[in-house]
Amino acid sequence: MPVIAFANPKGGAGKTTSALLLATELANKGAAVTVIDADPERWISQWGKLPGKPDNITIVSDVAEDTVVDAIEAAEQGSQFVIVDLEGTASMMVSNTIGMADLVVIPLQGSSMDAKGGAKTIRLIRNQEKMTRRKIAHAVLLTRTSAALTSRALRNVCEQLQAGGIEIFATPIVERAAYRDLLDYGGTLSDLKAAQVSNLDKAIENAREFTGEVIAKLKAASAAKRAA
Ligand SMILES: Nc1ncnc2c1ncn2[C@@H]1O[C@H](COP(=O)(O)OP(=O)(O)OP(=O)(O)O)[C@@H](O)[C@H]1O
Ligand SMILES: [Mg+2]
Repeated sequence: MPVIAFANPKGGAGKTTSALLLATELANKGAAVTVIDADPERWISQWGKLPGKPDNITIVSDVAEDTVVDAIEAAEQGSQFVIVDLEGTASMMVSNTIGMADLVVIPLQGSSMDAKGGAKTIRLIRNQEKMTRRKIAHAVLLTRTSAALTSRALRNVCEQLQAGGIEIFATPIVERAAYRDLLDYGGTLSDLKAAQVSNLDKAIENAREFTGEVIAKLKAASAAKRAA
């Protein structure tokens, strides 16, 4: 069952937020999802203790660099999707997880600091591709973008990525209060009250489109694997 890793050694790039959006969307569609929470802050584990966690989401919190491979393998047995929320460093745990991943999502905000972290992740992916002698699908996910305008820094980052032949998700994760509320109040986006959160419908639509793209990329990666 597919393993989707969220990686960028730059802290605060949006890994945890986008991993949780994917997990809750997939669970809403009825899939059994395991989240391996390898973020030292354990945000998703804390979210899981709040009311409203869907029953079909299992959270694994106690992983270390020497147990993460076994934890991923065990999670693959019992769930349709395994999501790994990684720490904001470039560690052995990050490399080991990338080595097990079917898709690496690289969240980054439109800044050159985040883009440098993204480039580091891509180097880790290339190393793991050589070590495991297989292709590892990966794509950059732009996060915390403005719904209204595209900044010069963001345009710059996109141009650099495109020049380097790096795939970018067509759907960016827009800056939305609903995504912060999710971690504070628990449950899924559809449990939030539209009267209390601005643009909740747009936040839900954004998470759905991102999830659709993840599924499409997983399908493309598995078709490419079969053809190889
Ligand atoms: N799309 C978004 N809309 C609103 N707030 C966001 C969004 N994405 C991230 N944030 C906020 O930005 C901060 C950092 O995001 P997040 O924790 O997801 O990043 P991270 O890459 O997991 O960080 P770390 O490297 O520390 O694990 C958090 O306070 C989060 O609520
Ligand atoms: Mg995090």
